[in-house]
Amino acid sequence: MELPWTEKYRPKFLKDVIGQEKITERMTAYIKDKNIPHLLFAGPAGTGKTTTALCLAREFFGENFKDGFLELNASDERGIDVVRGKIKEFARTMPIIMDFKLIFLDEADALTNDAQQAMRRTMEQYTKTCRFILSCNYSSKIMDPIQSRCAVFRFRKIQRTAIKEYLKKILNIEQVKFTDDGINAIVEISEGDVRKSINILQSASVIGEVNEENVFNIASYAKPEQIRWILKLAIDGKFLDSRNMLDNIMLNYGIAGEDVLIQMSREIFYVEEIDDKTKMKVVDAIGECNFRLVEGANERIQIAALLAKIAILKY
Ligand SMILES: Nc1ncnc2c1ncn2[C@@H]1O[C@H](COP(=O)(O)OP(=O)(O)O)[C@@H](O)[C@H]1O
Ligand SMILES: [Mg+2]
Repeated sequence: MELPWTEKYRPKFLKDVIGQEKITERMTAYIKDKNIPHLLFAGPAGTGKTTTALCLAREFFGENFKDGFLELNASDERGIDVVRGKIKEFARTMPIIMDFKLIFLDEADALTNDAQQAMRRTMEQYTKTCRFILSCNYSSKIMDPIQSRCAVFRFRKIQRTAIKEYLKKILNIEQVKFTDDGINAIVEISEGDVRKSINILQSASVIGEVNEENVFNIASYAKPEQIRWILKLAIDGKFLDSRNMLDNIMLNYGIAGEDVLIQMSREIFYVEEIDDKTKMKVVDAIGECNFRLVEGANERIQIAALLAKIAILKY
């Protein structure tokens, strides 16, 4: 079986990580100094946190870096004690290559307060021989005593142009045909998440050419102009038309209600010829609907009710 492209094209060296120049520069400086503090990587998914940690380990320790690098998931469902057990086991032997080992702890923000307390003690206990790299989506969920022991790095979503270039490079190597529309659609859908963009790219390329149609199909994503059109119909008071169209799209593309709402809340700002006050009311209604879906209400009914609410604004 072919390796998933996200693994096949995962950068091996810091210079190949895209869109995080400030961070990779600092990492390179650590390598030059042959020293490193504990690190906290915070930021959205698919922006290079794990990749940067792996590159760092490879550049510190060389190709056999796995001897000095332990990757753990903090939210291991067997509990924090299992995680600490693994750390203890790994830290028991002396580092060989450098005078420390690296422990990468993913999803650190999933830890409860008690678990974070325990982690803090563990970090202190092994600080002579180990450096910790904690990874999380939200640094605010990491307790101060841990944050203050780490150098904090904020990973940002990757710029569209950088992702485009990256995807085209992959397609050239893979010799897959594509259209610019197709690439643009992927970039639009993935919102700065490189992992997501590569996954969609690979799925679309299995069908054949990477074009808009294939991409929207694969990604269970409605075309932005369709969503705008539906909103416009509803705002014009054409409830039935808008509901039928949305029903069709959700069925055809297999889109979940919550994803429709996300698209709506984005596209509403691009619907022309409506005033800001109406937009605010629509956004408010989308928020309400989202809340109900999260609470478990029936998706079709709630989405229809949302369109009805928007349509009524006119009367
Ligand atoms: N900044 C980046 N530069 C290049 N590829 C990236 C970048 N961020 C993510 N990727 C791609 O997405 C995949 C997942 O990235 P990863 O580093 O695991 O993200 P996360 O921030 O969620 O830890 C990688 O294997 C790589 O292919
Ligand atoms: Mg990760």
